[in-house]
Amino acid sequence: MSKTATLEIDGKKYDFPLITGTENEVAIDISNLRAATEGVITLDSGFKNTGSCESAITFLDGEKGILRYRGYAIEELAQKVDFLEVAYLLIFGELPTKEQNDKFHDDIRAQSVVDEDVKKILEAFPKTAHPMGIISSLTSALTAFNPSVVNVESDVDMYNSVVKILGKMPVLVAWTMRKKQGLPLDYGDDSIGYVENILKMMFKKPNAEYKQNQIFIDALDKLLILHADHEQNCSTSTVRIVGSAHAGLFASISAGISALWGPLHGGANQAVLEMLQAIEADGGDTKKYMAKAKDKNDPFRLMGFGHRVYKNFDPRAKIIKQAADQVLNDLGIEDPILDIAKSLEKEALEDPYFVERKLYPNVDFYSGIIYRAMGIPTEMFTVMFAIGRLPGWIAQYREMRLRKEPIGRPRQLYTGATLRPFVEVDKR
Ligand code: SDX
Repeated sequence: MSKTATLEIDGKKYDFPLITGTENEVAIDISNLRAATEGVITLDSGFKNTGSCESAITFLDGEKGILRYRGYAIEELAQKVDFLEVAYLLIFGELPTKEQNDKFHDDIRAQSVVDEDVKKILEAFPKTAHPMGIISSLTSALTAFNPSVVNVESDVDMYNSVVKILGKMPVLVAWTMRKKQGLPLDYGDDSIGYVENILKMMFKKPNAEYKQNQIFIDALDKLLILHADHEQNCSTSTVRIVGSAHAGLFASISAGISALWGPLHGGANQAVLEMLQAIEADGGDTKKYMAKAKDKNDPFRLMGFGHRVYKNFDPRAKIIKQAADQVLNDLGIEDPILDIAKSLEKEALEDPYFVERKLYPNVDFYSGIIYRAMGIPTEMFTVMFAIGRLPGWIAQYREMRLRKEPIGRPRQLYTGATLRPFVEVDKR
């Protein structure tokens, strides 16, 4: 492979360096393009062909359906470690030793209390508020309760802010769910596991002893691992660009939560279940919805299908589909929604429209079925995605800051009005 790419504009040639990554991906470094060509820029709506950064955190191969966190295959991680170990791996770059892992968990537990005044903010929200909007606000509010600016150059400072947000987010999530259900805002129990504690905080009833369900603990742990990072997706790019202005970690993550809320992104897991329920209510007529998804005049999309990067099966969807089967089977649940999902998937995988566009089930297609079996309200599905993605956002923010990336400020191609004389109001 040559070391440069040559661009010719109006008969003049310009060479730009080619950079090759550790997985042999190749990028044209155009950082000098505008200066060298006296003003020419690139245009790439949605950044489908544009890399925003170099990163050593997550590798995806969309054609082969490969996903690795710091070089480890997602299939192995989902089987062999728990969510906090994956969080440590993503953020600090290596799987933790037992001592590191135990300390990490203890330090997170020590931070798993939230200022009582946060409840006053929560109380101000109507019960009808979407939990993603609440969580984004409460995460931003954490800055007010933890005003010390994080010195990203200090490993101690960064570590402390990491365990702080990993400790407090599950409390904010549980309180948000319980607020909407009119239940008391409790804490969990710092003698149990991280994922076990999330479920206990969410589901413990004030008048009954709480019994853990190991099937749910294992399923949620796996789901959080599968959602933990996904390179430069929309919400992670949001965290990076907000953080590139040297906004704090909590404020940057709050912005990422808002981006994840979108139904084309993390909000898809809620939209998938609502779609499957609509199909069920419509008599299970999957062919009607397939036709709607293919109709250019119909805004309906088959939620949970398609992906910007995966043009093969999303490896996470494969694992989640097996986990959904396992959870429902272990619980003895016959869920017609899962049957509709499977027949929709089968039809789509045989339909030329989907096959030509390489539209496969993505991470959001099956996850909602497990959350529903666990009794998690549909509106909370994307919040569960946010808990999972939190370590990825932290890792990407930390990498961006430690690499001293410049503030993100894209260019544009102006296509508006050219210079025109001002018109007085009585002449308009
Ligand atoms: C996530 O980026 C990440 O990594 C995200 C994520 C993560 O972990 O962070 O993986 C999480 O966001 C998964 C995606 C969840 N979203 C959905 O399931 C929503 C439904 N899917 C789509 O809206 C869509 O597939 C996207 C947004 C996911 C990707 O859109 P792209 O890459 O911009 O593709 P596109 O919109 O240009 O579509 C290409 C073609 C179009 O048809 P043509 O104009 O070529 O005829 O495919 C069609 C689209 O109309 N198409 C669909 C479709 N998705 C794409 N048609 C019907 N149903 C769909 N779901």
